[in-house]
Amino acid sequence: MADSFPLQLKFGTVLSALLAFLRLEPVLSSLLRAEGKVKVGSEGSARPRVAVGFGGRVDIVVDAVVPLDGMDVRPSEEPLHHDFIENAEQLARSFAYFFPSGAASERFVTNDTLFGQPVEASRELPGNRRSVGGDAPVMAGRMAMEGCDVLLGVSANPDFADVLSQHITVAGNSAEEPDIHLIPEYPSGAEWGRYTSERRSPAESHGYIVHSDNRNPYLASMKEFEQKLQEFQPDLLVIGGLQMMDSFPFKQGERDALLAQLSHLLSSTSPKTGVHFEMASFVDEGLLARLLEAVVTHADSLGVNEQELPPVATALDQMRELYRLVNGRRARPLARLHVHTLAFQAIAVARGSPWKNTVSAAAEASLTASRHARGSAEIDPGKAELVTDESFSVSRQEGSRRIPLLEDWEEGDYEICVAPVLVCTEVYQAAGGGDNISAAGLVPQV
Ligand SMILES: *[C@@H]1O[C@H](CO)[C@@H](O)[C@H](O)[C@H]1NC(C)=O
Ligand SMILES: *[C@@H]1O[C@H](CO)[C@@H](O)[C@H](O)[C@H]1NC(C)=O
Repeated sequence: MADSFPLQLKFGTVLSALLAFLRLEPVLSSLLRAEGKVKVGSEGSARPRVAVGFGGRVDIVVDAVVPLDGMDVRPSEEPLHHDFIENAEQLARSFAYFFPSGAASERFVTNDTLFGQPVEASRELPGNRRSVGGDAPVMAGRMAMEGCDVLLGVSANPDFADVLSQHITVAGNSAEEPDIHLIPEYPSGAEWGRYTSERRSPAESHGYIVHSDNRNPYLASMKEFEQKLQEFQPDLLVIGGLQMMDSFPFKQGERDALLAQLSHLLSSTSPKTGVHFEMASFVDEGLLARLLEAVVTHADSLGVNEQELPPVATALDQMRELYRLVNGRRARPLARLHVHTLAFQAIAVARGSPWKNTVSAAAEASLTASRHARGSAEIDPGKAELVTDESFSVSRQEGSRRIPLLEDWEEGDYEICVAPVLVCTEVYQAAGGGDNISAAGLVPQV
């Protein structure tokens, strides 16, 4: 008898995998069909022209409890929260504050001498990996891959420009050293002095990231980007990466001057050019208030990366409310809203606006999310699950109608579509896919 237990277990696993496959395979097929309906930039059709700003950096991933391995920083007995880091003592205390919980955090190191030490040390570490990162380069890369010609607003050195696709042109002043993010990867249970890092799930982002973003917060490429925009005449202008200005130690008046310039750039954009703003999360509410005025009023499309796991009905109600609140006093009417979550992609588009192919866009965004999480182009429905039901209520209001996933519906002046995400059960990487997802959702709509 005892022997039958493992057998039963095994049978149960096979059965549930089979059921998952049977349930998800049709969802995957319909997503792929919707994606396949639009072929952007294929032979005979012009490649859409997209301009993307701002930011750009080099990510250095190291397999160590960096930044501290590369420098003379002793475990501090007095953990303390610092908004940014000026010297070794602050670094030690700040690191001691975050290390035990393994919570994700990013800190700007204002002291170049101090920051230079772990960057130098990282070159010697076996298995260190360097890649081009930042919101604008990731979105640009995705859009070039999906068939667009891209003008990218970043300050870049030649090495940086070399690794970009041939369909990307860089517009920005050149920088000898790009902004660098040093990303430590160490196992749960790593030790630093008397501290031990708690277990993190692979779905969570890395631990304590230090960076030297002293170009990105100043939108250093904005002038060159603005000049080239005139000539490039994009179909779509995408603005992202503005969270780099968040909690940055600007001098009095600097931030407002930058936002005024950006606002000018956006307001002088041709009405034929769609303007998309990719929102990230902001800690500084003062900055958020200024962004609403300087950027959101000039954008006719918004992308929001929702970190919580709301039910579809809740997200849709929030989208309605957002539309209502931001569509009041605006330079341009808001014509598109894309909310991306772990579980689904919701896109609402104003009827009669130039934004087209909403169902394909939602499908493309969803598939990109699954592909990113698995780190491969193939999606295996046997290794995925749906976190949403197969139909959903369009609002929390009682008596609201139910809609099957991936079917679009009209509501007032808008067309809305919700695509489920096949959430990978063997997570390869869950964090950081937002830019790829948002960019993938824009391409079929231009
Ligand atoms: C910057 O860091 C270096 C190296 O740790 C240190 O010698 C110097 O005093 C720091 N500068 C300031 C202004 O804290
Ligand atoms: C974005 O997509 C590209 C191409 O699939 C991939 O190489 C890259 O790792 C992704 N990056 C992020 C941050 O999602």
